[in-house]
Amino acid sequence: MELTKKGNSQLLSKLATSDQHGENSPYFDGWKAYDRDPFHPTNNPNGVIQMGLAENQLSHDLIEEWIKKNPEASISSSEGVHAFKNIALFQDYHGLPEFRKAVARFMGKARGGRVRFDPERIVMSGGATGANETIMFCLADPGDGFLVPSPYYPGFNRDLRWRTGVQLVPVMCQSSNNFKITKEALEEAYRNAQDCNIKVKGVILSNPSNPLGTTMDRATLRSLVSFINQKQIHLVCDEIYAATVFRSPEFISISEVVEEMECINLDLIHVVYSMSKDMGLPGFRVGIVYSYNDAVVNCARKMSSFGLVSSQTQHLLASMLSDEEFTDRFLSENAKRLASRHDSFTKGLNEVGIGCLESNAGLYCWMDLRQLLKEATFEGEMGLWRVIVDEVKLNVSPGSSFNCNEPGWFRVCFANMGDHTLEIALGRIRMFVGKFKSVAVNKSWQRNLKLSFSSQTAVVAASSPHIMSPHSPLLRAKN
Ligand SMILES: Cc1ncc(COP(=O)(O)O)c(C=O)c1O
Repeated sequence: MELTKKGNSQLLSKLATSDQHGENSPYFDGWKAYDRDPFHPTNNPNGVIQMGLAENQLSHDLIEEWIKKNPEASISSSEGVHAFKNIALFQDYHGLPEFRKAVARFMGKARGGRVRFDPERIVMSGGATGANETIMFCLADPGDGFLVPSPYYPGFNRDLRWRTGVQLVPVMCQSSNNFKITKEALEEAYRNAQDCNIKVKGVILSNPSNPLGTTMDRATLRSLVSFINQKQIHLVCDEIYAATVFRSPEFISISEVVEEMECINLDLIHVVYSMSKDMGLPGFRVGIVYSYNDAVVNCARKMSSFGLVSSQTQHLLASMLSDEEFTDRFLSENAKRLASRHDSFTKGLNEVGIGCLESNAGLYCWMDLRQLLKEATFEGEMGLWRVIVDEVKLNVSPGSSFNCNEPGWFRVCFANMGDHTLEIALGRIRMFVGKFKSVAVNKSWQRNLKLSFSSQTAVVAASSPHIMSPHSPLLRAKN
């Protein structure tokens, strides 16, 4: 085995043999635990429930209904097959004009109609995953750094770093102010990077936030823009959850903010978007790079050859997204369903004394389990996480995998399952907390926890989780 590893390091590229992919984290370990023993209401009722996947399955019926009513939108139906030849032939990397136009309009609508997007600046990519990597390739060289407010989406470790060689420098946000990004934290991260001789090329963040489920207020966005403008570095806003906002305050896009501000270098502003969350279509792999910088648009467009969206998908979406009546109804109904799901889930948690960060967006809650930690450390968090995955059989994601710097926070997704499964998940949490409360008294709760809902002993044993430091490896090296 050792020999193979050594052999491979000589045979293969550094990229192929590096572990920068980020797969070695509890975030993905939890997914593997689910894959080994997936819950099914009848075939495997004691299996692991997947609560680690930020997927929106709540409004698929509306899309199905639209597809049935609009068979001509698909080239695979007798009503639409006349367009087959045109669509099947080679399409260049600009994308179908009607697709770019429909996406630009939809992006405006997803931001409350307060901003307009230029179809000429819409560049396609394979999901936001591809879009985020493309933008890194355009803005940074290997070794350059991007500041990223933490906790942050674990996929960033793969998407932004792995193939580009870019380094991520966390901007530490704290629970004491609901993890808001402050100017002080930005300045500190910038200084830390400089102390490590890292050239900072920009700030990247997701707004609405994954994992917090919160939206950034106007003042914070303005201060962020002032920060990057003063330093003359880039700002990349991943707005993949722009329309996944189900309650006030309304979402404010970076595009809206920069339009209001004066003396801002727009060449520094870039937006990433996708159809994966707001339309619930992650399988379609539709990602968008939208940049105000002409050179970036040109370069990203050339790069998009490596991750084009199939013209069949473009064709279907062009038609669906330009149906204004449908998109209006979809967005408002989807927001209602998300609000209702969020409320029933957080209410269920509250009933057993579990709180979440107050949120108004996203497909998840940022659950506060600090009171259940055996010790307030990341080892304590890992111990609790193992119990939750192995015994309670819920795949939730520990805060450390989001680079959170305070142990005890967990992200729990609530929109990727039906009501019945969610009820079962809540039942398991109820039982677990009840058991915890009774066992905690004699201080040996973790050893004694065996939950009666499962007749099996825990065999899930998520492969031994690598405890991700809440600090960047860089900053650790420095300390
Ligand atoms: C903030 C953020 N960016 C990007 C992605 C990747 O999205 P896509 O499926 O469009 O590649 C996700 C998916 O969870 C995400 O949460």
